[in-house]
Amino acid sequence: MGAGEPAVRSLRLRACAKLNLGLEVLGKREDGYHELRTIFQTIDLHDDVLITLRPRGIEVACDDPAVPVGEANLAWRAARDLQRYGRVAGGVRIELRKRIPVGAGLGGGSSDAAAVLMGLNRLWRLDIGAERLRLLAVRLGADVPYFLVGGTAVGVGRGDEVYPLREQIRCRVVVAFPGPSVSTAAVFDRVDSSLTLRESGHIIIRFIARRLEGGSGYEALSNQLEEAALVEAPELAERVRKIRGILVRERALLASLTGSGSAYFGLFDDASAATRARAALQAAGFGAFRGRTLPLDQYRRMWVPSSSRSGKERTSWRSRTSRSSR
Ligand code: C5P
Repeated sequence: MGAGEPAVRSLRLRACAKLNLGLEVLGKREDGYHELRTIFQTIDLHDDVLITLRPRGIEVACDDPAVPVGEANLAWRAARDLQRYGRVAGGVRIELRKRIPVGAGLGGGSSDAAAVLMGLNRLWRLDIGAERLRLLAVRLGADVPYFLVGGTAVGVGRGDEVYPLREQIRCRVVVAFPGPSVSTAAVFDRVDSSLTLRESGHIIIRFIARRLEGGSGYEALSNQLEEAALVEAPELAERVRKIRGILVRERALLASLTGSGSAYFGLFDDASAATRARAALQAAGFGAFRGRTLPLDQYRRMWVPSSSRSGKERTSWRSRTSRSSR
């Protein structure tokens, strides 16, 4: 922002959901986390995050009563960490309008936190660079650094080392929400006791290799948390079987659990097949979202501010994609 422009006091951001297009667990690390390989993908299902500067204190408000609004909220912690790191005297109010189901493996809480890091970096004019922002994100949670990047990307380490892929995935997505939420930690514990672990290590590499050869690579992908999640939440198994059946019948390119669940998605290159899949899921009693993948260039544009009028800054993304996405 140039000198003489009015100070921006408030920002409204979109915090997108992610899918794990494939996920493999290589083993348990000394820090208690698991060494992962995954393909992350942002989609146009999003929360709204309204960040408003105020003289002091950090306050979070959320339209979903199931979401904690104090220190247990990742967005609250993101603001606190940035405030401390930047030695900021002022405070902030964060309003979250949740659309991304909570505890579904869609990364909603992590995405909200990343939006707060990026938004407050701008509003407080801290000018913290990408690498330092990434380190702040790593401390908040394993999925948070990915949301500073977005698009189609490989995640390694705890999932917090993120490398964008040259070829971004552009297709339709349908996400079904069978509920209930599943504990990520409990699912990882179950994976530890399963033997399939020792056979892993090639899913993501095979996917990337096949794409380099010109194929889609989707047939190489699977989520190694899926089996453990269904053991952890047995009431999910029958619902997932139905959802998967519908997605496969409509010729999804890939049908899989995301993260540790419980959301289950299909990728489609055909828009009408995606529409039919969503309708069939809804007819079977499942909540379902139909949208698109959000490639890197579109994700990055979300954070480019348009002109700031009357002290309010808006991202240019809202008006552009609301016309094209649904
Ligand atoms: O980092 P985050 O709080 O999102 O992770 C939630 C839980 O998932 C962790 O407490 C851990 O039990 C498990 N996890 C893991 N290995 C990872 C990521 C998450 O074991 N790479």
